[in-house]
Amino acid sequence: MHTSDFTSLLMRWNELANKRAMPWKGEKDPYRIWLSEVILQQTRVEQGWKYYEAFVEKYPSIQHLAKAKDEEVFKLWEGLGYYNRCKNLLFTARFVAEKRKGQFPDTYEEIASLKGVGPYTAAAIASFAFDLPYAVVDGNVFRVLSRVFGISTAIDSTEGKNTFTELAQQVLDKDKPGLYNQAIMDFGATVCKPVSPLCSHCSLQPVCTAFSEGRVNALPVKEKVLQKKHRWFYYFQFEHKGTILVHKRTAKDIWENLFEFYLVEGTEQIRWNEEQVHVWLEEQFGIKKAEVSYISPVSSQQLTHQQIKGQFIKVRLNTIPSPLRHYEWITINELKQLAFPKFINQFLQQPTLQQDLF
Ligand code: ADE
Ligand code: SF4
Repeated sequence: MHTSDFTSLLMRWNELANKRAMPWKGEKDPYRIWLSEVILQQTRVEQGWKYYEAFVEKYPSIQHLAKAKDEEVFKLWEGLGYYNRCKNLLFTARFVAEKRKGQFPDTYEEIASLKGVGPYTAAAIASFAFDLPYAVVDGNVFRVLSRVFGISTAIDSTEGKNTFTELAQQVLDKDKPGLYNQAIMDFGATVCKPVSPLCSHCSLQPVCTAFSEGRVNALPVKEKVLQKKHRWFYYFQFEHKGTILVHKRTAKDIWENLFEFYLVEGTEQIRWNEEQVHVWLEEQFGIKKAEVSYISPVSSQQLTHQQIKGQFIKVRLNTIPSPLRHYEWITINELKQLAFPKFINQFLQQPTLQQDLF
């Protein structure tokens, strides 16, 4: 795929299908953009929304904020936590008001040199307020790029950070950087979502490597999995005409070289029910007809540094959707020859489930 295909498809999605409304969208005042980004570093959009509106109402300009009493601003910040960010906010407001006559800087370098403003926030302000060609690189951008371009370099490795930052800059729409940056964030938040992306209805699906190779739920890759203490593993046991989908784990993670079923990993519990599984099958693979024959209770396993919890969901398919043709499909006898993690074996060895396997 040419990188310009990605950009034009994303911009087209933004124009025709992006329904996301947020109070800071289309904002051109660098002070307000900066404010929204600082708040959004602390909290999710839904919660940040109220804080943003309260701040803008009380302090409509940077001069207003600069003149405010510390305690008054801290009170408004209450609930967002990490008061250092709020102190930096005040420091920078006063710096701009006093040292720059209230004029917010308008070059990337000057913006990035402000206290409490990192590369991400600087790119957001520079592009939204001044249409300067700097790509934002956040979790949404990592996820979208790693999936569309099928890149399995860990996003939290030095190499990964360089690779994705470079690619992000390459695919940025240099004519409309502000619009583009907001578009990729919105796309990541509403379509290419972490656990349940809406692949079947996705404008980028025709060029998406992860989709065509059935690797959507395996990307992006993170190196420092050990830092996650609680992991939720949802295993889809896909069955088609007496064969089962299996996958060998190859990443430097737990259970390296062992086999597993199709994995959807999350950091939070998902309360699967039959209907949700059908919705998920449709969204992920366009599967309209399938039999959800079993949803297991929650199993758990304590490893040295992490707690694994999860469920097994059995799905009988009439046809294999093309993304899943990239996997191995094996018979029950072949399955018995393969090594699985204990977490899976415990499930497979439950006597009541044995005859139910097919
Ligand atoms: N998170 C950080 N900045 C954002 C923005 N401008 N829109 C939505 N989510 C964001
Ligand atoms: Fe993301 Fe799926 Fe769209 Fe690919 S097809 S960009 S994985 S939502």
